[in-house]
Formats: sequence, structure tokens, C-alpha cells
Amino acid sequence: MDKKKLVVLTGAGISAESGIKTFRDHNGLWENHDVTEVASPEGWARDPHLVLEFYNQRRKQLFECEPNPGHKGLVELEKHFDVQVITQNVDDLHEQAGSSHVLHLHGELKKVRSTKDESLVYELEGWELNWGDTCEKGAQLRPHIVWFGEAVPAIEEAIDIVHQADIFAVVGTSLNVYPAAGLLNYVRSGVPIYIIDPKQPAYQPTSQITFIQENAGTGVPKLIKLLTS
Ligand code: OAD
Repeated sequence: MDKKKLVVLTGAGISAESGIKTFRDHNGLWENHDVTEVASPEGWARDPHLVLEFYNQRRKQLFECEPNPGHKGLVELEKHFDVQVITQNVDDLHEQAGSSHVLHLHGELKKVRSTKDESLVYELEGWELNWGDTCEKGAQLRPHIVWFGEAVPAIEEAIDIVHQADIFAVVGTSLNVYPAAGLLNYVRSGVPIYIIDPKQPAYQPTSQITFIQENAGTGVPKLIKLLTS
């Protein structure tokens, strides 16, 4: 028999227990920076050196992080379900844990791309991208990250995937940032939705939603129990 399709939307919260800070748990500051300063085209135009340095530090930190039981639990669920992860995270901790299907909505920290031709995307060796590092067409390379105000190219694929879900789960996202947050609207009616977050969500829970008020590290194992026993 075909396995049921479990689609999991993840956000910064799933990587928090691996040592990566979330965005909105710190008064809108991200690692002591105004998010728009370091994650927008305007910020890049104003001070590319600051932006490069900011992402270099995030990348360097990522090399010291490991997947936690939240990421690993989603891999374990592959024994029972056809699991598709849709993540807003730019880290690769889902891949490191061994998830087979991961769609990155907001780009990938370990990749860089050309500022002249966005189809030119490269795996960065090591953690450092510098001013003066160029693509094969001679243009400056930038982080392969979707910044505020930029389009989210993977959103159409994500909508298709969400539409196919037999079960939908949300782990560690404040659901503040669109279009990612809007994916919830594409879950078919009658499909059960599980939300794992230590903080009560701002929206009204419905009978379709089961809320697990836990960190990902304990919440995902609870989800496994709920779905497999
Ligand atoms: P947020 O920082 O907005 O939300 C993190 C969520 O994780 C909050 O709801 C926290 O309560 C929850 N959380 C904290 N610790 C947790 C834990 N141990 N286990 C589970 N949940 C925990 O992060 P996102 O929703 O991911 O975009 O933010 C969305 C986007 O905003 C990001 O992808 C980023 C940012 O701007 C870009 O960089 C383009």
C-alpha cells in the first residue's frame, strides 16, 4: 500500500535546539542586527560588506551545528509516511539529519549565486564569501538567500505539495512571513494539521488543528507517537 503523504512546514524553531537563533524571539533583532539591514536588497546595496560578513558568520556557525531530535524525528517518520519537508530555514540540518525530500523556500546558506544571472548558483566551499568573489560571467556573488522584498521562486512547487498532503504538520515557525505562512490555506479540508511550538499560536485553533505546545526536540517525538500508535 502507498504510504500517506506527510508534509511538514518548518521554521527557525526546529533548529533552535541545534544552537541557531530564531528571528522573532529577540525583539526583531537577529544576532544583534536589524533584519532588514542584512536581509534585503536595500541592505545589500547600502553595505554589501556587512551583508557578506553577516552571512559568513551564519555559515561559519552552521558548520559547528548538528541536527537535533526534531530534525531526526522527521527522518524517522519516513519509515511510516512519504515525508516532504518544506522549510523556511536556510541551514542544511534537515539534509544532514537524512531527510530525503527537502524544499527550501528561502534559499540555502551554503550556496551562493551570481548578481548578474540568478540561474548561476554554486555550492560554496568553506564558509567565506568575499567582496570580489565572482561568477563565471565576472559578476559579484551574493548569498543564495531570499531576502525581504524578493520573490519566493519555490512557492508554486510548495503549494502543489501542500495540496497533496494527507497529513500536515508545522514545526517551529511563527507563521509571520508570507507567502510561506499562506501555505496553510492550501491544506485540503479534512486533512489533520499538527502544530509544534512552545508558544501558543496567534491564530484561532480549529477542530482540524492539534496543537503540541513543546519544543521541536520533544514535540516531534510526540507527533511520531500520535501518528504511529
Ligand atoms: P520566527 O523566529 O519568526 O519563529 C520561530 C518560531 O519557533 C516561534 O514561533 C517560536 O515560538 C518557535 N520556537 C522557538 N524555539 C523553539 C523550539 N525549540 N522548538 C520549536 N519551536 C520553537 O522564525 P520563522 O517563522 O522561521 O526569512 O521565520 C520565517 C522567516 O522570517 C525566516 O525564514 C526568515 C525570517 O525573515 C528569511 O530569511 C527570508
